[in-house]
Amino acid sequence: MPQIVYVQPDGSREAVPARPGTTVMATAVNHGVAGIVAECGGSAMCATCHVYVDPASAGFLPPTSEVENEMLASAASERRDNSRLGCQLVLAPGVDELIVHIPERQI
Ligand code: FES
Repeated sequence: MPQIVYVQPDGSREAVPARPGTTVMATAVNHGVAGIVAECGGSAMCATCHVYVDPASAGFLPPTSEVENEMLASAASERRDNSRLGCQLVLAPGVDELIVHIPERQI
């Protein structure tokens, strides 16, 4: 089964099985991954599901939408070029692994 790998700020890694069509945020919440708050439940309205996409996974994701781009401006941790909202990142069919890094703070 495909997996999503969550890398914590301390470098620890947690690989979680994920079904195609699910999001980085939902998979984290369903498996109790620390550091993904997801206050708005996936509506792109809170930025508490902020992640940094690993360069190895950047090619597997859609471009950032205007709404996502605006919401990332209010993220609690530093915004970087690879910042995304986990609720907007869907595991596409045929992708075996996504790697994301969790920021220091979400609130
Ligand atoms: S869960 Fe709120 S923006 Fe992603």
